[in-house]
Amino acid sequence: MNMPENDKQSLSMVTCTAPVNIAVIKYWGKRDEDLILPMNSSLSLTLHQDQLKTTTTVACSRNFQQDRIWLNGKEEDISNPRLQSCLQEIRRFSRKRQNTVDSTSDVSGVSHKVHICSVNNFPTAAGLASSASGYACLVYTLSQLFGVESEQLSAVARQGSGSACRSLYGGFVQWKLGEQLDGKDSLAEQVESESYWPELRVLTLVVSAEQKSVGSTSGMHTSVETSQLLKYRADVVVPSRMEEMIRVIRERDFPAFGELTMKDSNQFHAICLDTYPPIFYLNNMSHRIISLVHRYNQYYGETRVAYTFDAGPNAVIYTLQDHLSEFVQVVRHFFPPEVSGEEFFKGLPVCSADLSEELKKDINMEPTPKGIRYIISTKAGPGPCVVKDPNHHLLGADGLPKKSVISD
Ligand code: DP6
Repeated sequence: MNMPENDKQSLSMVTCTAPVNIAVIKYWGKRDEDLILPMNSSLSLTLHQDQLKTTTTVACSRNFQQDRIWLNGKEEDISNPRLQSCLQEIRRFSRKRQNTVDSTSDVSGVSHKVHICSVNNFPTAAGLASSASGYACLVYTLSQLFGVESEQLSAVARQGSGSACRSLYGGFVQWKLGEQLDGKDSLAEQVESESYWPELRVLTLVVSAEQKSVGSTSGMHTSVETSQLLKYRADVVVPSRMEEMIRVIRERDFPAFGELTMKDSNQFHAICLDTYPPIFYLNNMSHRIISLVHRYNQYYGETRVAYTFDAGPNAVIYTLQDHLSEFVQVVRHFFPPEVSGEEFFKGLPVCSADLSEELKKDINMEPTPKGIRYIISTKAGPGPCVVKDPNHHLLGADGLPKKSVISD
């Protein structure tokens, strides 16, 4: 599309970034599938955007004929119902706000069509749920463009993907299940900021997987229909676990935090096995990582490292700065990589460490060459940010993705 100069000026554009979050108390099961209302509250840590983020540019113009979206360089179908819910909700909030200011003019351009372009700085193959950072970024960027207030955003992002509402804040974030039928009180809120526990470190261990797992939306649907354990978890286990998790985070009690994190991941995967037919997200490599973590902790007689797994075989490891370099060396020893250097170890650098013969002997596991493809090292990070530099917009002045964004 070649626009005349005066039309170009009618183009408004905003670019924002949003983070990935990893739950330590898992969300699994909806009580309302349309509004995406959960059966239990959940709690997560927001990861740093230097390592893992989604960037989204949204432009609106009276010259655009229709809403359009490009994800990781490819145009996708905008009629996806979850995308439509987010767009409709933001436009509704924006109109409501404008009507209270001035009902005659469209200041923000909310009546215009939008072009959306979004990319991740991590490969989809990393198996990290990109829907959380993706929907959080979309909703946040739309809100900046159309002037919607931040308290309303987590209810909108939730309707894109449940876990996305937690990516709207930095640090430790809880998503309270709420009680109302319309979901107005099913919102995310920050528990502690990203600077509260500065020693905390996060490693994503990307394992070699042969097959694609069942998606979380359909997986949790089958669990709700068939698992009795899910009901028990939602009614009895999670309410007290949420309280305990918040307490141990506030006390910066790593052994208690790590143990609860591992138990909650294990219970989520137990529900997957209790689902009929059962869902297997963990593979042999995941099981080996679980054994390694327990053997390492057992050697020291305390919980120094904790794992958690989502709807796939990759492990996310929580530990403290003091134990990080040794544990990374343990992983390298028991999963000797195919590639070395930055290809295997990405993200925040870690010092090298020597392993004692005693530790290696005590762990007593056969090494699994190439079992882990690569590691991403990161820490807690902030919520969504506005990108000020217009050179970083993903859309050009013609409202179409820049050449650097398009994939073949
Ligand atoms: C295992 O948020 O991806 O990662 O709401 O259907 O989009 P939908 O599901 P989604 O589920 C995430 C499930 C999980 C646990 C968690 O992040 O809490």
